[in-house]
Amino acid sequence: MTTTLASINKDRLTALVERERAAYLASFPASREAFAAAGDHLLGGVPMTWMRMWSGGFPLYQAAASGARLTDIDGHEFIDFCLGDTGAMAGHSPTAVQEAVARRYGELGGATTMLPTQDAAWVAAELTRRFGAPYWSFTLTATDANRWAIRLARQLTRRPKIAVFSYCYHGSVDESFIVATPDGPQPRAGNVGAPVDPRETTRVAEFNDAAALDRELAHGDVAAVLMEPALTNIGIVLPEPGYLDAVRSLTREHGTLLINDETHTFSAGPGGCTAAWGLEPDLVTIGKSIGGGIPSGAYGLTAALAERILADPAADIEDTGGVGGTLAGNALSLAAMRATLGEILTDEAFEHMIAVATRFTAGVQSVLDSRRLPWNIVQLGARAEYRFCPEPPRSGGESAAAADTALDEYLHLYMINRGVLMTPFHNMALMCPATTQADADAHTARFAAAADELLS
Ligand SMILES: Cc1ncc(COP(=O)(O)O)c(C=O)c1O
Repeated sequence: MTTTLASINKDRLTALVERERAAYLASFPASREAFAAAGDHLLGGVPMTWMRMWSGGFPLYQAAASGARLTDIDGHEFIDFCLGDTGAMAGHSPTAVQEAVARRYGELGGATTMLPTQDAAWVAAELTRRFGAPYWSFTLTATDANRWAIRLARQLTRRPKIAVFSYCYHGSVDESFIVATPDGPQPRAGNVGAPVDPRETTRVAEFNDAAALDRELAHGDVAAVLMEPALTNIGIVLPEPGYLDAVRSLTREHGTLLINDETHTFSAGPGGCTAAWGLEPDLVTIGKSIGGGIPSGAYGLTAALAERILADPAADIEDTGGVGGTLAGNALSLAAMRATLGEILTDEAFEHMIAVATRFTAGVQSVLDSRRLPWNIVQLGARAEYRFCPEPPRSGGESAAAADTALDEYLHLYMINRGVLMTPFHNMALMCPATTQADADAHTARFAAAADELLS
């Protein structure tokens, strides 16, 4: 008999969550005490309020991390599939990046000077080799890469709006906090201090619905579609066959630029989904992982757009025109990016990472099949995620509807209490060059045990 979502015993799940919470509380006393002691001057008791999202009431405190391993201040070692939610996709502190950073910061000196270093041209050429876009500029975060790409798109098209997909995430980009509902577009719940209602700046459609995108773009006021080629921040939602071609045709037809945000979808291969799937965006944005953990981001654009923006007398991209940051393109970030792209997240490394993710996915799938659990797992290159619905969701809206906070908490705590870190947001796992097949199998074994306890 197939288990149905309704047949998962809720009382059993509640009891298991309570048991795992108690185990967490007992297992990590030093983290618990550090968290309790930290509250006086830290907003929310943490250096970044997202860190409150870890299950268990307090986050683990990091002592050290190397490759795919992280150690907490109680001395436990974890297999890290969270990898800083992609910021550490190169693995923690890989040697080549350590050396490049030490050389730039210590030996040579000068982390940030407002002057270029020769690393910049190398990194730009490498990004071109991977993603196709021939001209690049640098940021410190993926959020800024998106913000500045949007500004350029508005300037280039002289159009006011952008379009995004429901339940997308592109960082703290004001325009993106909007969802599609049966009653029309609505600001996303919890949107903090929006400068204006996002419906004034943004059009929104469900992913995999080309007709909906066509309707939104037909207004003729959309400068750019900002998209992940596969959604990764509301579970993983893959594009259906032909959908990305339709997006490209529609954007061309309506005079709208296309921005591929490859920050997470970089997991698809050395040139992200853009290269893996032969996509032709007008702009590419990326951040998080490309500096091996040192703050870094970048955006790339076509030759035609680069020429036009440089020649636009009304666009101040050099001073106070709203595109740029004092520390952006700094020597330290560039040294880290060169080492990361040149020596760590190489084409060969991706082959290994994707093979490990394939094993991870097959392991989870075998548990779902053998227990007849009505959940699914989706892989995107070096990344995989399970979700609590029988079929992979087709859109952000469908995926949001499959969220289950109790199951999330149970699985997060079950894993963490047994030495495995998953992302705290949902059930995403990422492989780095140091992740092994044995690490994937270790997760499968715990996942099977967690499922069996739930079903017993
Ligand atoms: C697809 C995507 N773009 C951009 C960002 C923003 O990255 P950051 O917070 O490092 O600026 C994120 C963060 O999760 C992301 O998932």
